Amino acid sequence: MATDTSPGQTFPKREQFHGFMKPCRFEGEVRDLEVEGTIPDCIDGTFFRVMPDPQFVPFFDADPWFNGDGSVSAFRIQNGHVNFKQRYVQTEKFVREREAKRSLFGKYRNKYTDAVTFKVRSTANTNVFYFKGKLLACKEDSPPYALDPTTLETIGLYDFDGQLPSMTFTAHPKIGPVSRELVGFGYEAKGDGTPDVCYYSVSPDGKFTETVWLVAPVVAMIHDFAVTENWVVFPMIPQTCDIERMKQGGEHWQWDPNLSVYVGVLPRRGAKGSDVKWFRSPNAFPGHVYNAYEEDGKILLDISVSDKNVFFWWPDAQGNAPDPREIAAFLFRFTIDPNATTADPDLPPAELLLPENGEFPRIDDRWAMKKHRHAFFDLMDMSAGTDWATVMPVAGGGFPPYNSLGHLDLQTKRFQKYFPGPTHFTQEPVFVPRGETAEEGDGYLIALVNNYATMASELHVVDTRDFSKPQAVVYLPVRLRAGLHGNWVDAKEMAGIEK
Ligand SMILES: [Fe+2]
Repeated sequence: MATDTSPGQTFPKREQFHGFMKPCRFEGEVRDLEVEGTIPDCIDGTFFRVMPDPQFVPFFDADPWFNGDGSVSAFRIQNGHVNFKQRYVQTEKFVREREAKRSLFGKYRNKYTDAVTFKVRSTANTNVFYFKGKLLACKEDSPPYALDPTTLETIGLYDFDGQLPSMTFTAHPKIGPVSRELVGFGYEAKGDGTPDVCYYSVSPDGKFTETVWLVAPVVAMIHDFAVTENWVVFPMIPQTCDIERMKQGGEHWQWDPNLSVYVGVLPRRGAKGSDVKWFRSPNAFPGHVYNAYEEDGKILLDISVSDKNVFFWWPDAQGNAPDPREIAAFLFRFTIDPNATTADPDLPPAELLLPENGEFPRIDDRWAMKKHRHAFFDLMDMSAGTDWATVMPVAGGGFPPYNSLGHLDLQTKRFQKYFPGPTHFTQEPVFVPRGETAEEGDGYLIALVNNYATMASELHVVDTRDFSKPQAVVYLPVRLRAGLHGNWVDAKEMAGIEK
């Protein structure tokens, strides 16, 4: 346990606590946000997203953005009106720190640096998604926390009625668009530093139908994954864990520039742990998955990849980290033959699909796990006309480092950019189809946008038929810090629960 030195009552004078990244710590509700333009009636549902937002001054000054308490935002959009609600997830960490009136929680995913012993270290700050009437707030080192999707009140830690076999649960589960089956996994699934991965499928009524334990070749981060009709794919980020380093008070993660990217491929149904095949690709940072599908017996995996350590705040063993301004990620396609013998486990080089710096990808989720045509993402467009003199002094380390939204039509190769304004950065978008029978990609992107001139947040609603201007801009009277992920839940899906 760490030497218990009480933190102060002002946030550290560091970039990640400065300007737009200064913790918001706001809980509450604002009804009928200001709307400029018109939100079409076909947008009827709720946009949920979560951001790390420390309740208290952190235990360690250099605390990374990812270590803040999960604060969930809900934007209920109906008949052109928007109601906004925001609440913290009442994790064990949050509740005990509130009682103590100070932080007790140590370094990111290092329990040896805590001031007290926690049963669960989840910050519930990475993703929120809707499953079986509940909103699940996820952090990949723990089980999810369940929230009431209408009130955002925390129900409690969620172990799928006692069925969750692993100690951890990914923040990037996939939901089958037709079957509504939830496909997920946990890594370090038997505790910190373990190479065990547990894969599972859960039926829409909440029953575990597949559980497979497998062992990874290294203990490294598996942040996102991919699912096709018949396969699941686990790309490993070369950030490795060493339990001895953690016991000495070091970081959970360390970048290994000499480690390959391992990509595990497992049959989606009826598999044993020994059925997993581990392929290799040269050292890189595999980021978020757009989608994956099968064609001619091969798996096509579309994924953002950077040649640099995106998590620069966890450097290599020598302390080397890239200059954040030089980090860029691009849309690549891996072609994987799942039936190949593993005598030669090296994957063929991935194909660069778009030479534009982008991340936080979305597709039209109705096309998840099958061949998709449309890709949407946050984009950094250096030619767009960002007013850097206004933005940079208050950008708080530059999160998120994207100033536009991108749309790539993979069939026609048409690439479109939406620029929200010279003092604006974009957060992860969600895609809302124009209707149940709309063609793939025909609908709206909704994204939270940081306005560095007003120091307040905005929601931009963009018609995918016209990227030249916003369909509507929704103004918040508050500033929301950079978030991680969120999802759109249609009102029909929440029918019977919505009050
Ligand atoms: Fe993520």
